[in-house]
Amino acid sequence: MIVAHTFLAARRALAGTVGMVPTMGYLHEGHLACATAVRATSDCVVMSIFVNPLQFNDPSDLARYPRSWDRDLALAERTGVDVVFAPSVEEMYPEPPLTRVTVSGVTEGMEGARRPGHFDGVATIVAKLFAGIRPDSAAFGRKDAQQLAVVKRLVHDLNFPVAIVEVSTVREADGLALSSRNVFIANRKAALGLSRGLFLAADSAGAGERSGRTLEEIAGRTASRAGAVVEYAELADARTARRIPTLDRVAFLAIAARAGEVRLIDNVVLEPDGTADRGTRLDGPSILGGS
Ligand code: PAJ
Repeated sequence: MIVAHTFLAARRALAGTVGMVPTMGYLHEGHLACATAVRATSDCVVMSIFVNPLQFNDPSDLARYPRSWDRDLALAERTGVDVVFAPSVEEMYPEPPLTRVTVSGVTEGMEGARRPGHFDGVATIVAKLFAGIRPDSAAFGRKDAQQLAVVKRLVHDLNFPVAIVEVSTVREADGLALSSRNVFIANRKAALGLSRGLFLAADSAGAGERSGRTLEEIAGRTASRAGAVVEYAELADARTARRIPTLDRVAFLAIAARAGEVRLIDNVVLEPDGTADRGTRLDGPSILGGS
């Protein structure tokens, strides 16, 4: 496995068809599932590890974002990553960028409404990675459903020749969606309320419930009862990320809540026939530990 710190070195290390996995490091099985998803169709897999300051609206969130460089390299290598691209902030932003990418519409609700500037930061870094690395495909997790919608729209609007590969949410055995921020969870019961609520709502959709409000209430109420402080529970069109009143198209039911100090997001993807992608569960404890 080659470690490259500049765009030039990363490009030079790549050959044939290139599959890309953008990450901010502190790797877990969700990131590794993204790498595995592009490996089958690519000659070369490149994983970027870069904690992107541009997408953090809260400076303290950026300051305490967990990092684990040696562990990340070992995990990437074990998963069959060929090139790790780990640029410095200076390599990525030699000067404050005058060009920013804004995807409107898709970013108006949910995370976009609560984290001003966040998706501009995400869209800008993803555009820079696609332009500088020029992958043929790139994997993104359904865990971040609104981000996935933003990236798909960005690729569509700007004609990036990149196939976007969607990866189902990887969960701990008890249902908690894997996230680098899980290391900060002190109240696991409250944290588990998010997935529990989503699964109950998905059960309800499976049994024929189509009302957005009802599905949102089931998810929100369950999470609150577990002790989570719910910011929103919303049924949204998977493509536009706009709230919809009825489950009549491919959608996701998303929840954001605080479990103690930690802000968590999770979702299930719902089909109009009521079937759901609830993600996949690990058999044992995650490589993140702590469960
Ligand atoms: P990060 O949070 O490190 O996530 C990197 C990729 O892993 C994203 O596509 C994310 O959706 C996916 N992922 C995270 N947790 C997952 C899980 N439990 N199951 C499946 N996939 C999961 O998302 C970002 O970084 C950044 O915004 C980035 C796209 C790299 C731009 O900076």
